[in-house]
Amino acid sequence: MCGIVGYIGGGQALPVLLDGMTKLEYRGYDSAGVAVVADGSLQVERRAGQMHNLLEALETRPMPGGLGIGHTRWATHGPPTDGNAHPHVDCSGRIAVVHNGIIENHDVLRARLEGEGHEFRSDTDTEVVAHLIESILREGEVDLRTAMLRTVNLLEGAFALVCISVDQPGSIVVARQEPPIIVGAAEGIGLVGSDIPALLDHTRDIVPLDNHQIAEVSPGSVRVWDFEGNEVEFETVHVEWDLAAAERGGYEDFMLKEIFEQPEAVRNTMRGRLDPAGCIVLDEVHWDKETLAAITKVVIVACGTSFHAGMAAKHAIEHWTRIPVELDLASEFRYRDPVLDATSLVIGIAQSGETADTLAALRFAKEMGAHVAAVTNVVGSSITRDADAVLFTHAGPEISVASTKTFLAQLTALNLFALYLAQERGAMTQAKMAETIEAMRALPEQIEDVLMLQDDVHRAAKRYAHVTDALFIGRGVGMAVAMEGALKLKEISYIHAEGYAAGELKHGAIALIEDGTPVIGILTGHRLYDKMLANVQEVRARGAQTVLVAPRGDERARSLANELFEVPLTKPLLTPILDTIPMQLFAYYVAKERGLSPDRPRNLAKSVTVE
Ligand code: F6R
Repeated sequence: MCGIVGYIGGGQALPVLLDGMTKLEYRGYDSAGVAVVADGSLQVERRAGQMHNLLEALETRPMPGGLGIGHTRWATHGPPTDGNAHPHVDCSGRIAVVHNGIIENHDVLRARLEGEGHEFRSDTDTEVVAHLIESILREGEVDLRTAMLRTVNLLEGAFALVCISVDQPGSIVVARQEPPIIVGAAEGIGLVGSDIPALLDHTRDIVPLDNHQIAEVSPGSVRVWDFEGNEVEFETVHVEWDLAAAERGGYEDFMLKEIFEQPEAVRNTMRGRLDPAGCIVLDEVHWDKETLAAITKVVIVACGTSFHAGMAAKHAIEHWTRIPVELDLASEFRYRDPVLDATSLVIGIAQSGETADTLAALRFAKEMGAHVAAVTNVVGSSITRDADAVLFTHAGPEISVASTKTFLAQLTALNLFALYLAQERGAMTQAKMAETIEAMRALPEQIEDVLMLQDDVHRAAKRYAHVTDALFIGRGVGMAVAMEGALKLKEISYIHAEGYAAGELKHGAIALIEDGTPVIGILTGHRLYDKMLANVQEVRARGAQTVLVAPRGDERARSLANELFEVPLTKPLLTPILDTIPMQLFAYYVAKERGLSPDRPRNLAKSVTVE
């Protein structure tokens, strides 16, 4: 989720780049950098941290020139340092590249290029692209576009790439495989951006590149080719959005945008980690098989939504690995004198990587001699310093205070981790592993399918927006979804909501139900399905209005529901990744109906850095 800007034209590139990058800072803010071609040389300035660090550095370093690229980084490979900031250059310092995405085979390519004498200066996956282009250009007789074409055919993974060269100052070359990138041209200028806000001041006519396309942008002109090298027709789209709407991708709120980014977030979390041969590859986990075989218990610590991801992960880890799992709120764990030793594996989950209680819990676990792993969305965050292994979720920046896409990404990462543990400990048959991996691969499309419920959920939310209380019930992993659904509703709509184990209802909470009380039931398709149906019947008998999430096509659920959200079938342990989505949309639309701002709920902060 990095921000990219490119400019070519008769004016000065730098102010256009910096203005565009500032407008894209919401996409990533670990570091920022620019490269400008002027008078036969390439000038590069890069700084870790937010844009103001780069702006300060440029105060004393003017960079005149009419061709340039800029980048704000959301780190994926390598910590957010000056050296890892984009643009990256080749050995000769004449080619500069910026990138959004993940190049999965970067290590193989890097080894090959180093063997050929290329010198690398960063830890990033991106730098291989600059050296690949350099080495193809060195062979002679090709232009920058052809070098890019040959390069992209060597890359695996996801990339939006933008490249400039001192030796071809008449154009910018762009390539896309998955992450979006747009180009445009107006009189005398050519533009590139990872998102519309970067271009809006200069043109409202944009060309969104399709997957597997390369573009050459020159002043006043755009040309597009496919990855086979055939020139193709393209469509220009006229954008009417104002800047604020453009930042939200045309969605009314960041929360809704982020809910709709979930197919991509989950795809990115899995990227490069599901080997076609049917195994899980986690490059970040360096414990050997003996260490993993010696683990006698897993302890998961987290807060809030991350805790709910841990609730679901407990089921997955225990079922797939047969290692017992304890689950604790970080704020409780750190003060309860837990029993840990060198055979314990403690997993801390924090999307921000900065939650004070979770950090303290992991530090404590380390002092006790436990192995410590972290699951986070933020490269370079504090949690990465305290953990022996860090699993990044790669969901991209989340702006809305309420977590949505980072939750689905956490669930995905934790499932991968659980499967990895099972694989390394020999706890799962190859057939079951292959079947589960196949089910995981299907998730992004299934998420897209669930998102089609948007209008149904909106209609339902209108009917319940006036209520004062709501109960969310589930069993097994469905309980984690119920807890998360209740938290989403309380935090953005301010309706009192409780997530409850459905089997616990009759031990007290059922007394809350009166005529019209909404009860949201998660009827995950697993062996507890019949028991959930019985619980739904119990609450209906006491006057509850039932809103049910159930596997598609189940007539029994239909007959018991006032509102029914049907989701596609998946493996029981993967159901939270689908079942949570209607809950997020429900909370979002209830908040909207109540006239509240979902992105900025009262009293809450995105990152809780104090106890
Ligand atoms: C709810 C939410 C919070 C966070 C909690 C922990 O939508 O976002 O409950 O989940 O503050 O944050 P992290 O994951 O950063 O530790």
